Amino acid sequence: MATLKEKRTCAQRCEDFGHFVWNSDNGTLFGRTLIKWVYISLYYVVFYIVMSALFSLAIYVLMYTLDPYAPDYQDRLSSPGVMVWPDTYDDEKVVIAYNTSNKMSWMKMVNSIRTLIHPYNDTLQEHHNPHNCTAERYFLQNSFNGPNHTKWACAFYQSTLGDCSGIDDPTFGYTTSQPCVIIKMNRIIGFLPNNGTGLAPRLNCTVLEGGENVSGYEYHPYNGTFDLSYFPYYGKLAQPNYVNPLVAVKFNLIKQKTAKIECRVVAKNIAYENYYDPFEGKVIFNLTTMS
Ligand SMILES: *[C@@H]1O[C@H](CO)[C@@H](O)[C@H](O)[C@H]1NC(C)=O
Ligand SMILES: *[C@@H]1O[C@H](CO)[C@@H](O)[C@H](O)[C@H]1NC(C)=O
Ligand SMILES: *[C@@H]1O[C@H](CO)[C@@H](O)[C@H](O)[C@H]1NC(C)=O
Ligand SMILES: *[C@@H]1O[C@H](CO)[C@@H](O)[C@H](O)[C@H]1NC(C)=O
Ligand SMILES: *[C@@H]1O[C@H](CO)[C@@H](O)[C@H](O)[C@H]1NC(C)=O
Ligand SMILES: *[C@@H]1O[C@H](CO)[C@@H](O)[C@H](O)[C@H]1NC(C)=O
Ligand SMILES: *[C@@H]1O[C@H](CO)[C@@H](O)[C@H](O)[C@H]1NC(C)=O
Ligand SMILES: *[C@@H]1O[C@H](CO)[C@@H](O)[C@H](O)[C@H]1NC(C)=O
Ligand SMILES: *[C@@H]1O[C@H](CO)[C@@H](O)[C@H](O)[C@H]1NC(C)=O
Repeated sequence: MATLKEKRTCAQRCEDFGHFVWNSDNGTLFGRTLIKWVYISLYYVVFYIVMSALFSLAIYVLMYTLDPYAPDYQDRLSSPGVMVWPDTYDDEKVVIAYNTSNKMSWMKMVNSIRTLIHPYNDTLQEHHNPHNCTAERYFLQNSFNGPNHTKWACAFYQSTLGDCSGIDDPTFGYTTSQPCVIIKMNRIIGFLPNNGTGLAPRLNCTVLEGGENVSGYEYHPYNGTFDLSYFPYYGKLAQPNYVNPLVAVKFNLIKQKTAKIECRVVAKNIAYENYYDPFEGKVIFNLTTMS
C-alpha cells in the first residue's frame, strides 16, 4: 500500500506562496483580509499605549514616593566607621611613621591633616553655619528652617582642637615626637549615638603595644567628646554645610619609638566588634617617630 505522494515543482510552490501573500480570490493578504489586518494593528497600537501608560504610571508613583531628602538606599549601615588622619593607609593597616629630620616625610602628615581640617576654618564655619547650637543636646529638626529649604548644621571650629588645631603649631607636632592625630566618625543619616538623654560619644584611645614607648596623650576637645548637637545628620541635600565633629589626640612618644594604638568611639549605639569591618566603631594604627 504505497501512499501517493504528490510531487510538486518549485514553480508550483512559488505560486502557492504568491497566493498566500495576496489571494485575489478571497482578497486576503498573508492569509488575512485587509479589515482583519486593520483590527490587528489597532489592537497592538492600543496594547502598547496601555503598556506604556502602566509603565509611566509605575515610574511616576515611584518617583513621587521617593523622598529627595532621604537616601534611596542606605547600605544597611547602622553603626559608623571611624577614621584617623594622617590617612596613611598601607594595605588596610594604618601606619603613621615620620622622620622629624626629613621634611618630606613629616610634610606628608601635615598636608593630610591640613586637607581634612580646611573646611573647619573658624571664619568659614561662622559664615556657613551661623546657627547658634545648644551643646550637649541632640539637634532635632522637623522642619526646614535654614536658608533655601535646608536644615541648620552646627559649626565645628578648628580652634576647638586646641594644640592640634594647627593655629599655634602649623605642623601639628610632626617636627617633634608629640604628633597629633585626628579622629573622625563617618556620618550616617538619622543616626543617634545614644537614645534617650544619653551622653555624647566619647573617644577612648588605648595603647595596645608599646605602652612603655608612650609617655602620655591628651584629647581635644578636652574630654574627647563628639558633641550631641552634631546628631542626627539629615543628609547632603537637607544639610549641605554639615561637617563631621572631630576629636584630636596629641601623643607624647618617646623619641625613635613605635606604638600600636586603638582609638574607639564609645557610645551605646556604636558597635566595635565587627569581624568583617575592623573600622566599625574604632581604628587601630601604628605610630612611629624617627629622627
Ligand atoms: C581661615 O580663613 C581665613 C580667611 O580665609 C584666613 O585669614 C585664616 O588664616 C584661616 N585660619 C586658619 C587657622 O587657617
Ligand atoms: C548667636 O548668639 C550670639 C551671642 O549669644 C548673638 O550675638 C548672635 O546674634 C546669635 N546668632 C544667631 C544667628 O542667633
Ligand atoms: C539660596 O539660593 C540662591 C539661588 O540658588 C543663592 O543665590 C543663595 O546664595 C542661596 N542662599 C544661601 C544662604 O545659600
Ligand atoms: C535604644 O536603641 C536600641 C538600638 O538602637 C534599641 O534596641 C532600644 O530599644 C532603644 N531603647 C530605647 C529606650 O529607646
Ligand atoms: C577606655 O578603654 C579601656 C579599655 O577598654 C578601659 O579600661 C577604660 O576604662 C576606658 N576609659 C574610659 C574613660 O571609658
Ligand atoms: C618600643 O619602641 C621600640 C623602638 O621603636 C620598638 O623596637 C619596640 O618594639 C617598641 N615596643 C613595643 C612593645 O612595640
Ligand atoms: C569632662 O568630663 C567630666 C566628667 O565626665 C565632666 O565633669 C566635665 O565637665 C567634662 N568637661 C568638659 C569640658 O566637657
Ligand atoms: C605595629 O607595631 C607593632 C608593635 O608596636 C608591631 O608588632 C607591628 O608589626 C606593627 N604593624 C605594622 C603594620 O607596622
Ligand atoms: C631620618 O632622616 C634623616 C635625614 O634625612 C636621616 O639621616 C635618618 O637616617 C632618618 N632616620 C631614620 C630612622 O630613617
